[in-house]
Amino acid sequence: MAKQEDVFKTIIAHAKEYGFVFQSSEIYDGLSAVYDYGQNGVELKNNIKRYWWEAMTMLHDNIVGIDSAIFMHPTIWKASGHVDAFNDPLIDNKDSKKRYRADVLIEDEIAKFDEKINKEVAKAAKRFGESFDEEMFRQTNPRVLEHAKKREELHTRFSEAMNANDLAELKQIILDYEIVDPISGTRNWTDVRQFNLMFKTEMGSTADGAMEVYLRPETAQGIFVNYLNVQKTGRMRLPFGIAQIGKAFRNEIVARQFIFRMREFEQMEMQFFVRPGEELKWFDFWRQTRLKWHEALGLGNEKYRFHDHEKLAHYANAATDIEFQMPFGFKEVEGIHSRTNFDLSQHEKFCGKKIQYFDPELGESYVPYVIETSIGVDRMFLSIFCSCYEDQDLGNGDHRAVLHFPPALAPVKCAVLPLVKKDGLPEKAREIQHRLRFDFTCQVDEKDSIGKRYRRQDAIGTPYCITIDHQTLEDDTVTLRHRDSMEQERVKVADLEKILSEKVSLNNLLKKLL
Ligand code: GAP
Repeated sequence: MAKQEDVFKTIIAHAKEYGFVFQSSEIYDGLSAVYDYGQNGVELKNNIKRYWWEAMTMLHDNIVGIDSAIFMHPTIWKASGHVDAFNDPLIDNKDSKKRYRADVLIEDEIAKFDEKINKEVAKAAKRFGESFDEEMFRQTNPRVLEHAKKREELHTRFSEAMNANDLAELKQIILDYEIVDPISGTRNWTDVRQFNLMFKTEMGSTADGAMEVYLRPETAQGIFVNYLNVQKTGRMRLPFGIAQIGKAFRNEIVARQFIFRMREFEQMEMQFFVRPGEELKWFDFWRQTRLKWHEALGLGNEKYRFHDHEKLAHYANAATDIEFQMPFGFKEVEGIHSRTNFDLSQHEKFCGKKIQYFDPELGESYVPYVIETSIGVDRMFLSIFCSCYEDQDLGNGDHRAVLHFPPALAPVKCAVLPLVKKDGLPEKAREIQHRLRFDFTCQVDEKDSIGKRYRRQDAIGTPYCITIDHQTLEDDTVTLRHRDSMEQERVKVADLEKILSEKVSLNNLLKKLL
């Protein structure tokens, strides 16, 4: 466990050192759970968004995009349920004066049982070697069974308390399991109370006072309230989808794990409107389609798993998360929900206007059902960053930090490196960069030794380095160095565009989805 924590710390430090992610307002000692993307981070993030956007809007004839405002009429959040129910259970420790999510404290306690079980399994695997039957061990070992039983008891009690919104019981669990504040080490807890996660601000200034508005906690409602606009102006027929990428804001109580849980983050959401009764068929379609989108990146299919929700929100009739193996365990990156006609019906009720679809085949009008796919850009960024980072041992005490990004997502696609800073090589490098930069993000780097420059490009995940040497001036050929294999080949300058576009084009990734 400690080792994984160290790996994660190294990754966070690397993200800062190489211009990917900075703490917001760092020169003022930072702002908690808010981050800025640097010169390389913004490129990676834009490439992730482009991959999602094009997969949604260009590969599906029946999906269009919108860009709705962050500020929306406050009644929208009443209708959607966010004003009344978008809460987290919160508890304070009276000694450390720190605030925690009561559910997270209990979940951490549950995870301790999992750790104990895993430790027993690891010990036994070491002891028995090749002949170890893990499945059998988990089912029969008395110590494992004892931990599993205690885990189940706590999990059941916790789920029941959460489902019943029983805040007193949540506190009682914390007391019964003697959960202590990690800072003060004491059990001096306040009662548990609900905390709404929406940020509020004021709009305008009238004699009667300004209107209280919220920073949107999800982009989805901007899609629901534009359903009629898009359906009518786009003459859309069911089934069809509306996609959107944009910022969302949540006043998270416990913000941790770097950009995994932020107070300002970005979502890529798509609402797919379908005929009532057909929603589960489409839910299944989107479950598979979205997994394929993730897998096409080639980060390793074993790093993904579905987590189907046992307990569904009252308006949902199916829900699953796509989880990714982060250094701190499998975590949700994307949610896929069958939301019935809850949101559109609520808006119908609150705005007093009909939000329906006339189905020409059935000859009747109805409120469409919705399948939602919702993925966090920042979590996607984190999952790619963590799984592509490698501190690679090159033998003889040498090593390199390398980011094995899928080439289509790499912030810089190629770097042109003149071997020496004289004899016309820098000018030749510029000439080549000026040709390539129309199609590829392309840097020229002429400082330091060629070895150091290769390392710098490896560290930001540049898939190709193009080295210009004296031979280039004679025969118009260059050395093309491959990031992952570090192999080099001699190629013609005239062929560079063709070679690079075959390797780094987003189209190659998109074609895998068909
Ligand atoms: N419209 C549905 C919705 O917002 P959600 O599960 O609350 O559902 C969807 O959020 C996705 O947004 C999550 O799977 C996650 O990737 C991302 N997300 C949610 N809260 C986040 C936070 N505080 N920081 C970063 N990403 C977050």
